[in-house]
Amino acid sequence: MTAVGIDAIELWTGKLRLDLPNTFAPVKGEDPGKYTKGIGIEYSSLPDVYEDIVTMGANAAKRLMDRRGLVPDDIGRIDVATESAFDNSKPVSTYVAGCLEQVYDGDFHHANKGERKFACLSGTQVIDDAYNWIRAGRNRGRAALVIATDTALYERGDPGEATQGAGAVAMLVDEEPDVVALSTEQGYGSADETDFLKPNQQFPSVDGKRSIQVYLARMREALEDYESVAGDTHPDDFVYFPFHTPYPGMVRKAALLGYRHITRDTEIEDALADDIGMQPREADFPEREDYEEAIRAYMDELKETRRYREWYERAIEPTIQISGQVGNWYTGSVHIARLSALRAAAEADVDLAGEKLLVGSYGSGAQAEIHAETVQNGWREGVEAVDVEARLDDRYDLSYEEYELVHDVHNHEKEVEVDEFTQPSGEFVFTGWGRMNERR
Ligand code: HMG
Repeated sequence: MTAVGIDAIELWTGKLRLDLPNTFAPVKGEDPGKYTKGIGIEYSSLPDVYEDIVTMGANAAKRLMDRRGLVPDDIGRIDVATESAFDNSKPVSTYVAGCLEQVYDGDFHHANKGERKFACLSGTQVIDDAYNWIRAGRNRGRAALVIATDTALYERGDPGEATQGAGAVAMLVDEEPDVVALSTEQGYGSADETDFLKPNQQFPSVDGKRSIQVYLARMREALEDYESVAGDTHPDDFVYFPFHTPYPGMVRKAALLGYRHITRDTEIEDALADDIGMQPREADFPEREDYEEAIRAYMDELKETRRYREWYERAIEPTIQISGQVGNWYTGSVHIARLSALRAAAEADVDLAGEKLLVGSYGSGAQAEIHAETVQNGWREGVEAVDVEARLDDRYDLSYEEYELVHDVHNHEKEVEVDEFTQPSGEFVFTGWGRMNERR
């Protein structure tokens, strides 16, 4: 069967950044350690006043098309994943196509366009849709351009404010991909949940603590469902485990639970029982409360074991590095995690071709999806071309007062006149609602 997957990746980060430990924490009267050690985000990316989900998505897509020498005729499908959409009728992909048609010969008349919504998870659903479209043989030799673009902003004073971010990831999905090929096997965990929602409102209503539990529960279900079709997973089967990363601290929790799950009934479980001196079995605890207490004690010990720490440093830590520099990009977040891991491997000069990733996506509302990916021969070139370092370093550092102004500008309910902080340089810029974005 011909491999189908991600052939090229590009990103566009909001051009501003907020330093959480040094600028945000002091104003909030908080210890910087909450950000550096607890939540794990050092900088939030934020859009300048002339950026929005369309411009970020179109700019990422243009970068990708230019790098690969593509023209509209090469692309048969444009799908945008976002939970920051501003138009209840036209999909954001039509706005993005309108931008791109200003700069390329030809147009996207022939291309099927859409917009996918399921909170952060839709960033993976657009890849799935493209995969299915190609597998069904409906692509007529053309590739799919999929874009995950969001401004993840929270009400000022909401605990979620500490996890904000903004950016876009553009990906080309095609046959014989250069970066990763997707598995046919998938697992899902899905339930109607109300811990994070935005009914007719820009900023989410969030029950933060509960959202953590819902994330963990849906991910566990998705992993079990994935194993029911792909067979039991083992920690050594996968070189990296990129997960949806609202903030690195969330992935630390998910990794610990995931590790316990995938080591059960393996030689590692027995070795851990020896290291820790116990391995709670439900059958040994007549009272549920006693069992749960024993599990908590076991998990506290587990995360300090050499075996777990070595696995975490190898398989998880590389996936959360970029997230710590940009915050939550919602639909783009899991793609940032994959890119982060591949970039770390390229820097360490590790050859990943043929290695496998276990990718865990999640969206509030809530649904988790797990699939595997096989790294392809062209991965290193594809990842090095993104030049993540330059993208992150080019951002403008906001003072706290500037941050408040920018936040107000991006809160659509307010009209605030603010000068831009950076200069556009050959990119699409926002020029008003419902108007064509311009290139400056
Ligand atoms: P909070 O309640 O202000 O933070 O907000 P906290 O007090 O729980 O502290 C966070 C961590 O820092 C804790 O660690 C503290 O112990 C630690 P943990 O107990 O979690 O391991 N800490 C420190 N560590 C070292 N030194 C210190 C220090 N101080 C504290 N001095 C919360 C946290 C996540 C609730 C908040 O940011 C929030 O509401 N975020 C938004 C919701 C969210 O991101 N949920 C994640 C799961 S849901 C999801 O991922 C979906 C989402 O992406 C949306 C979508 O799908 O569309 C959000």
